[in-house]
This record gives sequence, structure tokens and C-alpha cells, in this order.
Amino acid sequence: MTVNRELFDQVMVPNYAPSSVIPVRGEGSRVWDQQDREYIDFAGGIAVNCLGHCHPALVNALKEQGEKIWHLSNVMTNEPALRLAKKLVDATFAEKVYFANSGAEANEAALKLARRLALEEFGAEKSQIIAFNKGFHGRTFFTVTVGGQAAYSDGFGPKPGDIVHCDYNDLAAFEKLISDKTCAVMMEPLQGEGGIVSPTDEFAKGVRELCTKHNALLIFDEVQTGVGRTGELYAYQGLGVTPDILTSAKALGGGFPIGAMLTTTEIAKHLKVGTHGSTYGGNPLACAVGEAAFDTVNTPEVLAGVKAKEALFRELLTAVNDKYKVFSEIRGQGLLIGAVVAEQYKGRAKEFLVAGINEGVMSLVAGADVVRFTPSLVIPEADIREGMARFEKAVAAVVNG
Ligand SMILES: Cc1ncc(COP(=O)(O)O)c(C=O)c1O
Repeated sequence: MTVNRELFDQVMVPNYAPSSVIPVRGEGSRVWDQQDREYIDFAGGIAVNCLGHCHPALVNALKEQGEKIWHLSNVMTNEPALRLAKKLVDATFAEKVYFANSGAEANEAALKLARRLALEEFGAEKSQIIAFNKGFHGRTFFTVTVGGQAAYSDGFGPKPGDIVHCDYNDLAAFEKLISDKTCAVMMEPLQGEGGIVSPTDEFAKGVRELCTKHNALLIFDEVQTGVGRTGELYAYQGLGVTPDILTSAKALGGGFPIGAMLTTTEIAKHLKVGTHGSTYGGNPLACAVGEAAFDTVNTPEVLAGVKAKEALFRELLTAVNDKYKVFSEIRGQGLLIGAVVAEQYKGRAKEFLVAGINEGVMSLVAGADVVRFTPSLVIPEADIREGMARFEKAVAAVVNG
């Protein structure tokens, strides 16, 4: 069988438009394709591969668990799930954990829990969910409707109701929307897909205060920001604003699919037996790899390393930009970095990504105007330098048409 990019168009549903390159193996922050061409990975599987490719701690955890037990379903619990849950609880505000398989599923659980709590404690009137324009929370129908991009939620018939949006960082608009009928507010503590936008201090604290005032649950979607990405274990810890519910996925499994919803005992009690579930949630393989990823990331050295690598990354990217003037702003936190294209390149962020592939460096976009970098949290300095040298060539290629 010839396995190539053409086969994708023949046999796959056309909802993705993957690159022409098919990577076949990876090690650390380097990846090789079918033709054995090497790439430096600044994309990290969209902020997933927090320890790069095939990190020995994760490979060992997978192999070890793979020879013990793979799956039970939730009619029984398992040791890796219990251990990972205990570590998440010990390291955060949370007291209870629910495991899912993806970010969208963790968010779906959070939203259902919020609705359930409001119904049971306050009555049917309290069902409004507030979220933010350009926010992204996943692709289930509930989460995509809560997400703030109508382009993703339109065209599928009637949407889940009582969901409203306002602009991120617009506290006055938010204050006008929220009321005692609001049951939950879902926000990213740094908008990722929406363009790498940090909340102002005033906004984050203001949202928290207004949620408390109106008995609305504050749900932080940390699917992209969680597990070390911003240089904190979770971004809320750097913001100094504690949510009522937090969702985590992506880096939580370091490349193995897993999601988690974290909350307090008081809130969690509303998801009583039978109210929600998942066949695979808390799967032993996923949780064993998740535990190894968590143990490796949640150390002062790795977290401080993220901030040091961020500084180098910004310095090198700024130097490229000083030369070519293609970006109007470099923003983000930790190793979640966005380069906003200058006016002249508006709508063309993807050209930098495609040129990067040609030069042997993988990056991402966040919307049409932002080039996004989410490399491994333990990427060696030499790979940052080499990757940025390749990215400079990509920028030159775009500039020179
Ligand atoms: C903030 C945020 N929430 C949720 C999701 C959805 O996660 P998943 O694709 O694992 O369902 C994403 C994915 O990009 C995300 O960035």
C-alpha cells in the first residue's frame, strides 16, 4: 500500500487540510518525515507534546502500564487514575477530579456540572452561560456553542440555549451581561486559538468578583494553558485568580489523549452517580502516561526552565523581526507565544507556517493573523536556536515572495 498525502484525500473525511508532510518518528524536539527530512518542532502537536516526542519517562510509563492492564471502564477504578487524581488535587485548589479523553469532553463535563448545580441549588431560571468572543472550548455541540466563534458553531441546526458572549478584557460589557440568572462563566486564562491574548489583571479579578457576587461558577479552560505551558503549573496560579472549576487536557497526557475536570467537593457533589460518564475516562494507560508527564513537568526546574526558554525564544524572534519587520507584536506567556503579523501581512499568518515547513521548522497559527509557537517545555537551547534560524529563512522566503 502506498501511504501518502493523496491517500488522505481518498479515505479521510475532508474536515482537515493537513500539511503535505507525514512525520513518522520524533525524538525530543526533532521530527522526521517519510523521506527522512528533519524538522524542529515548535508546534508540539498544538501545545500537547509538553515533553517533546518519545520522552523516556512517558515511553517507560506507557510500556510498563501496557504490560499490566489497559482498560477497565468506570465500573472499576484503577491505580494510575487514583494516583494522578491525588497529584492534581495536591497541586491545585481542587479537591475532586473527573477524567475525560479530550479538552472538549472535560469542558462538556464542566458545563453540565454548572447547569446541574444551578438547577438543583437555585432553580431553572439560573441557566445562563457567559463566554467570550474568540474563545475556544472544543467541538462538541455544547462547547462549540460556548466558544466565541460562530463560524464553528453555525450550520448544525438548533444550538444549546442561553449562552451569551462578550469581548474578552471588556469588564464593563461583562458586568452588563452577568446577573443572578448566570450559572457559569467559561473563560481561558489566556486565549489560545483566539490569537494568544492575555487577560488584564483588572479583567481577571473583576470577572472573579462578579461571579462570586452573582453565585455564578467561574470555569477556567486551561486545556491549552495548563501543565506548565505558561511557566506556572496552571495559569490561574500566576494570575492569582482561583476558578471554581478548571479543565485540563492537551499537555496533561504529553501526547496520550486525556482530559480532566477539577473542582471542589461542594461543587462536585452535584455530579452524583449516573449523572455523567465516559467509557474511557480515566483509562489506565492514559492516566499512567499522564502521571509521568505531570511528575516530570511539575518540578521547579522545568517550570523555571519554561520562563528561561521563553526569554530566549522572544529574544531570537524579536531579532528576526527587527530585520524583517513582519510582526507588529510578540505576545503570550511562557512557551505559548504569538507573533501578530504586521498590517501588510494581514490574513497571511499561514504563509509563515508553510514556509517554515519548507525550511524544516514546524509552527502553528492562531487565527489568520497570528503565528503561534508551542514547543516542548524542555526543548534544548540549541534546538530553539536552530529552529529560529530556520524560521528566519522562512520569514525571508515570505518577504521575498
Ligand atoms: C482552550 C481550549 N479548550 C478546549 C480545546 C479542545 O480540546 P480538544 O481538541 O482536546 O477537544 C482546545 C483545543 O485547541 C483549547 O485550546
